Amino acid sequence: MNLTDTAHNLTADFFVGDRFKYAVDATLGNGRDALFLSTLIDDGGKVFAFDVQEQAIEESKKLFESERCLEKLEAFHAGHERMVELLSPDLRGAVSCVFFNLGWLPNSDKKCVTKKSTTLHALEQSLGFLDRSRSVLSVLCYRGHKGGTDEYLAVKEFFETELADAFDVYTDLRNDKSPVLFFAKFLKKSV
Ligand SMILES: C[S@@+](CC[C@H](N)C(=O)[O-])C[C@H]1O[C@@H](n2cnc3c(N)ncnc32)[C@H](O)[C@@H]1O
Repeated sequence: MNLTDTAHNLTADFFVGDRFKYAVDATLGNGRDALFLSTLIDDGGKVFAFDVQEQAIEESKKLFESERCLEKLEAFHAGHERMVELLSPDLRGAVSCVFFNLGWLPNSDKKCVTKKSTTLHALEQSLGFLDRSRSVLSVLCYRGHKGGTDEYLAVKEFFETELADAFDVYTDLRNDKSPVLFFAKFLKKSV
């Protein structure tokens, strides 16, 4: 099961062909998730993205350039835990999609990995940016590395506490080290 594809498919299904203005990729990496999000963004909209590694920002900009959509990416070379400081207050309640793909940058030396405390801080902040009338929060956790299981347990507790029953969990139940996707949908029906 490729949970990155699962997150993309669930998001595309949720918005059923509609587009929106703003998304946040909290862990830009090589830009694959951000590029996917950009396909759902309206003209004039943006994917706001964070990464602490310069390499990730550069690679992602190259990817967006090669796809001729660089104007849709605003990348911050900064930790996602600075979301509130760096994103405009006008975006509060206006973001349709927030993605976290935790762990380390693929094809890197694995020295830089997301951490439980900053991940939790960023997750809390992201709730303030989501448009609660129609949005998704997707968090992909990895449990195979040092600190990964602790981070996963913290994310699990965050979803259980903050989002009660309003989320789904995807994983390979036969393997307790396999990745886990937490996917929450916010939808307020208009009357
Ligand atoms: C699994 S990768 C992300 C994959 C990416 N979404 C993609 O599509 O290629 C995790 C990324 O999180 C970044 N990271 C680590 N700590 C971070 C932090 N505090 N804030 C933002 N990004 C961070 C790493 O540098 C790494 O690039």
